[in-house]
Amino acid sequence: MTVYFIGAGPGAADLITVRGRDRLAASPVCLYAGSLVPAELLSYCPPGARLVDTANLDLNQILAELTAAHAAGLDVARLHSGDPSILSAMAEQLRRLDAAGIPYEIVPGVPAFAAAAAALGRELTVPGVAQTVILTRTAARATPMPPGEELATLAASRSTLVLHLAVQRLSVLVTELIPWYGEDCPVAVVARASRPDQQILRGRLADIAAQVEAAGIRRTAVIVVGPVLTAEEFPDSHLYSTTRPR
Ligand SMILES: C[S@@+](CC[C@H](N)C(=O)[O-])C[C@H]1O[C@@H](n2cnc3c(N)ncnc32)[C@H](O)[C@@H]1O
Repeated sequence: MTVYFIGAGPGAADLITVRGRDRLAASPVCLYAGSLVPAELLSYCPPGARLVDTANLDLNQILAELTAAHAAGLDVARLHSGDPSILSAMAEQLRRLDAAGIPYEIVPGVPAFAAAAAALGRELTVPGVAQTVILTRTAARATPMPPGEELATLAASRSTLVLHLAVQRLSVLVTELIPWYGEDCPVAVVARASRPDQQILRGRLADIAAQVEAAGIRRTAVIVVGPVLTAEEFPDSHLYSTTRPR
């Protein structure tokens, strides 16, 4: 028996990996966060699978499901939105599974930031402009940010910044970002990336909050900040350079 932590991807049902879909299809139990994981993915589960929406369960109740499946010798597909390596609350489940001696495997998925970059048609690292992407969230929700990860500290690098769980606080956040990036710095907000109702707003730090307000975007959106969003004048990368010895 194994618990498979599977990255469900950003929303489109065909953006789960082949391995993730195969594990899902072979697991008689599936735990998923109904608010974030698209319902279409559940059609990959085998007929008669036990489907558990974890949206209203606490950690102990989730662990009880995993422990019961272990006792019954049933594999579990544990779906997490995007990729489970970031902002997924997988770590606390792994810690408890380790303590209980329950085996698990992690199947990566397409994270929201990658789906957003694809929707924007941009590379987030461009030679001479930005070679670093910071994936973060903000402190408004229950889990506080660790010391040293304040937005101003991260913004000081002026690298490409991707903010999760932050769209409701955008008007405050831009005031913290402008001193570092400047008010003309390009910003994009991508809501529900890869889903049929995907929405994209492009603007500057000075005007993006008003656009988000007008569009009524309140959740399931990433905010991408940085000059890479509009950069055109940059050198070709060394990778395919005609002068690079091959
Ligand atoms: C709890 S985090 C999960 C992140 C996920 N583990 C990942 O790899 O992208 C949830 C946040 O991710 C972002 N997010 C998730 N799916 C998204 C999507 N399809 N489009 C835009 N943002 C998304 C939103 O900021 C949302 O509030």
